Amino acid sequence: MNQILNYLSYLLKSTNLHGIHSPFAYDLVKDVIYKRREKSEKFKIIEAIREELKQDSSLLFGTDFGAGSLSKSSQKTIGEFAHSSSKSIKYSRLLYRLAKWHQPQYALELGSALGISGMYQAIGFGNSTKFISLEGNSVLAAKAHKNFKNLNLNSSEIIEGNFDETLSMALEKVPQLDWVFFDGNHKKEPTLRYFNQCLEKASEKALFIFDDINWSTEMQEAWTEIKQHTNVYMTIDLFFLGLVFLEKREQKENFLVRF
Ligand SMILES: C[S@@+](CC[C@H](N)C(=O)[O-])C[C@H]1O[C@@H](n2cnc3c(N)ncnc32)[C@H](O)[C@@H]1O
Repeated sequence: MNQILNYLSYLLKSTNLHGIHSPFAYDLVKDVIYKRREKSEKFKIIEAIREELKQDSSLLFGTDFGAGSLSKSSQKTIGEFAHSSSKSIKYSRLLYRLAKWHQPQYALELGSALGISGMYQAIGFGNSTKFISLEGNSVLAAKAHKNFKNLNLNSSEIIEGNFDETLSMALEKVPQLDWVFFDGNHKKEPTLRYFNQCLEKASEKALFIFDDINWSTEMQEAWTEIKQHTNVYMTIDLFFLGLVFLEKREQKENFLVRF
C-alpha cells in the first residue's frame, strides 16, 4: 500500500524533459533514458534465454541472500525466480542504453541472479570493459556464468559468494570503478556499506545505479543518505532505479524524472 502511494506521489511530482534545467541531465534524459527505441540484435537472444529460464520448473535450491531476493527460495522454481527477480525488459534495456553511453573501463554488479541484467549491461559495454558480477547463490551463479559464456561475453566474469566477502575481492581485481549496479541485499546498512566500499575505488566520472530505491522504508532512507553524501554531485530518481553521478559540479542537483 505504501509503495502504491509513493508511486502516485512520484507520478505527481516527477518531471519530463521540460523540467530539467541542467544541460548534462537534459541531454542524458533525452538521448539515453528516453531513447526507448534503441535496440541491439542481441536483445532477441537474451529474451529467448529469459523465456527458456521462465519455463524451468526445477526447484531453486541454495542459500537465500538478503532482503528482496530469494525469500521462500526453497519453494520457488527457477522459472518463478526468473519471472519475479530479473529486471524487466524496460529496465534491462535502460541499463543497456546507459552502459553503451557511459562506456566504463571497469564495471561491477552486485546481484547477478540468472545473469539477465548482466547480459544487457555487458552487450552495452562491449568487449573493452572489464565487467565483474557478484552472486551468492551457487545455482544462480552457475546459470549466470553459462549465460555469459553462451553470449561470448569474454570480458565478463561472475564471482560466487556473499557480497560481504566477494566485494572486497572484486575491488582488489580492478584499479578503479567506473560503474556499479547495486541489485542485491536491499537493506539500509549493507546498501550504505557497499556504497562506501565502492566509493573508495570510484573514478572521477563513475556512475552508480541503485535498484529498488523505493522498495522499503530502509531503502528510501539509504537513498536519502546516498543523495546527501558529499561525493555525490547529481542524482536522477526514476522511482525503481536511482542514478548517482560522482563527477564534480558547481552545485548538487537531484532530479525526479518520469520514466
Ligand atoms: C534482484 S536479484 C538480481 C537480479 C539481476 N540483477 C537481474 O536483474 O537479472 C538479487 C540477487 O542478489 C543476490 N544477493 C542478495 N544478497 C546477497 C549477498 N549478501 N551476497 C551475495 N548475493 C546476494 C541474490 O541471491 C539474488 O540473486
